[in-house]
Amino acid sequence: MAINKQEHAQWSSSFGFVLAAVGSAVGLGNIWKFPYMVGESGGSAFVIAYLFCIALVGFPILVAEWLVGRRGQKNPINTFADVAASEGKSRSWGIVGATGILGGFLILSFYSVIGGWALNYITKVASGSFAGQDSDSVAATFDAMLASAGTLTVWHTVFMALTALIVGIGVTKGIEGTAKILMPLLGLILFIMVGYNVINGGFGEAVAYLFTPDLSKLTADVMLAALGHAFFTLSIGMGIMVAYGSYLGREVNLLKTARTVVILDTVIALAAGLAIFPIIFSHGLDPASGPGLIFVSLPIAFGSMGAGTILGTLFFLLITFAAITSSVSLLEPTVEFLEERTSMNRMMATVVASTVIWLLGVAALLSFNLWSEFTIMGNGIFDALDKLTSKFLLPLTGLAGIIFVGWKMDQRTIQQELGLSNGMWQLWQIVAKFVAPIAVIVVFITTLMG
Ligand code: PHE
Repeated sequence: MAINKQEHAQWSSSFGFVLAAVGSAVGLGNIWKFPYMVGESGGSAFVIAYLFCIALVGFPILVAEWLVGRRGQKNPINTFADVAASEGKSRSWGIVGATGILGGFLILSFYSVIGGWALNYITKVASGSFAGQDSDSVAATFDAMLASAGTLTVWHTVFMALTALIVGIGVTKGIEGTAKILMPLLGLILFIMVGYNVINGGFGEAVAYLFTPDLSKLTADVMLAALGHAFFTLSIGMGIMVAYGSYLGREVNLLKTARTVVILDTVIALAAGLAIFPIIFSHGLDPASGPGLIFVSLPIAFGSMGAGTILGTLFFLLITFAAITSSVSLLEPTVEFLEERTSMNRMMATVVASTVIWLLGVAALLSFNLWSEFTIMGNGIFDALDKLTSKFLLPLTGLAGIIFVGWKMDQRTIQQELGLSNGMWQLWQIVAKFVAPIAVIVVFITTLMG
């Protein structure tokens, strides 16, 4: 949404706000990234670390970002600078907004590549190409897509163009209405898939894999991956929720709203796990196969179901839609920034930002084929972008945000704003001042030492 320079707009209702926040939070992170990270990090250890990070770090930082956004009422950089100034602190806190914008910019480049995969799979599933196929040929189809720089570029371009179109025209609000219908539908199909798995086997094994605590696998790397994913999946640590908070009315209860968003986001990720892993196990596939996980496992199931073509097409359509409600929120801060700080108008800002992001995305997708030999500190460009953002930029930006709210802002007014009784207030203080920041710092230090 565009910042209205004279009169700052507000969400029409707190329901509209929840919807926009859920639209940003629920996306490829839940359905594509969460399952494959679980697979790569050995299952339940990751799930447990992730749940801890969501509750003790993600939740308070989400609240903190909305709180700052609602105070500042501007783009993330000016918001942090202004709120800091009004608390008698340095305006250089604006840097927190800047690293956030940079994070969103970098994430969108590879996010759009995966959005492109999902778009491509709509056409593949719809044309019935998986019907009756065994797991080897489904996997071969995926590998062939990855090997083709041309195919990947075409679909990445379509996804990026769709995102740019929506942001450029400024109809972000319009897609809220659509999200109201389509997001629940996505949830419904996920649950149908889970039901299919209960009947077709592998379910018990998947539940054990996801939820049986095995602390021996809980390494510093797994912790960092889980922490980074908590930020990614909640869209925090990059100014998006700060920007969303700036449109919030006074009457909205931040804690309750954050609880709704966090629960919905987590339930969808776990449901995706239960939709995917039983198929992996019952077909003897490798859970640690990386980013291709859902593009191989789900088509196998769709290929063997009666109504698989229809259900599968709908499923990839809905994932693409969920991805677009997130990608729009990723592009918005950069565009808003260019619009406010340069002489560009909205259209121009959108074209410039999305072209640069698109180029970076092309470099990322080439790491699956033509440039697969090229690495940055042992990672291909795609992985490097993913790791740099999830494991460093987002957690550090979020850490700065929670330190700001916990230590730099006037605490009395925050208590009033959150509407907390004294007991709950104390709990909030412990979490915001100590638990969340220390958790982030400890994870960093142990990873650096490891
Ligand atoms: N949270 C989104 C997802 O899980 C991705 C995203 C990250 C969107 C950061 C906006 C900002 O897919």
